[in-house]
Amino acid sequence: MRSTWNPEQYARFGAERSQPFHDLLALVHRYPSMRVVDLGCGTGELTAQLHDQMDACETVGLDNSETMLAKSHAYERSDLRFEPGDIALFNADGREDGKYHLIFSNAALQWVPDHEPLLARLTDALTLDGQIAVQVPANYDYPTHTVAAEVASAAPFRDALGGYVLRRPVLPPEQYATLLHGLGYREQHVRLQVYTHYLASREDVVEWVKGTLLTDYQRRMPAELFARFLQEYRVRLLPHLDDTRPFFYPFKRILFWAAR
Ligand SMILES: C[S@@+](CC[C@H](N)C(=O)[O-])C[C@H]1O[C@@H](n2cnc3c(N)ncnc32)[C@H](O)[C@@H]1O
Repeated sequence: MRSTWNPEQYARFGAERSQPFHDLLALVHRYPSMRVVDLGCGTGELTAQLHDQMDACETVGLDNSETMLAKSHAYERSDLRFEPGDIALFNADGREDGKYHLIFSNAALQWVPDHEPLLARLTDALTLDGQIAVQVPANYDYPTHTVAAEVASAAPFRDALGGYVLRRPVLPPEQYATLLHGLGYREQHVRLQVYTHYLASREDVVEWVKGTLLTDYQRRMPAELFARFLQEYRVRLLPHLDDTRPFFYPFKRILFWAAR
């Protein structure tokens, strides 16, 4: 299936999208000579900031979108590299010296199913004193998401999608806390945070989700049909949103950090 991640569309709300990254990074403890991996690194812009702020000896950014990774070359250095790869298949190659001191992931694990076994696999890729830091959106009960599911379930999109509707694997915050506890982390911080965004108008909400959520439907249907999907989505979504300028857009996210 083709990648529909578009770095320009994603960057349209860059300031709003980078704040959770900085909040997540603030939870991480910095130690000398850390080996770091950034799962779902996107364009690599924030990976470079992660690398610098950790003063890491080696950082790897991993992503499965060619279009996003194409931008990452600009940030490459001898100790910071970017690789194509699927988070669902990520491991530390079974090598003790290949393990990471920090597994970091900002706004990407929501695209990977089965978080319980996923977190167990990620923990296996950490050193015995390693840290994990993850941020995932948790706005699935907001109209942006419920309306997308509604449109996907309606004709003619349902047939084109073969009945597929995006279901997010994101768990409630307390379940992450319990999983981290069960995996033997000695310290943890898990929180749900509501980020408050002021967009120029409610129309901008559509632009926002075009860069993220809707990419999943876009890659599953021909371009002309996706244009119709977008039109129907807009018609159904906008009545759910207040017609104010600026438009107040509350966005829930889960941030978790834990140390072994
Ligand atoms: C919302 S962007 C976040 C990018 C970056 N972490 C940031 O904060 O700017 C999500 C990224 O996850 C990547 N992604 C989604 N599913 C993935 C998977 N299964 N394996 C690797 N990367 C994935 C996408 O290609 C995209 O670049």
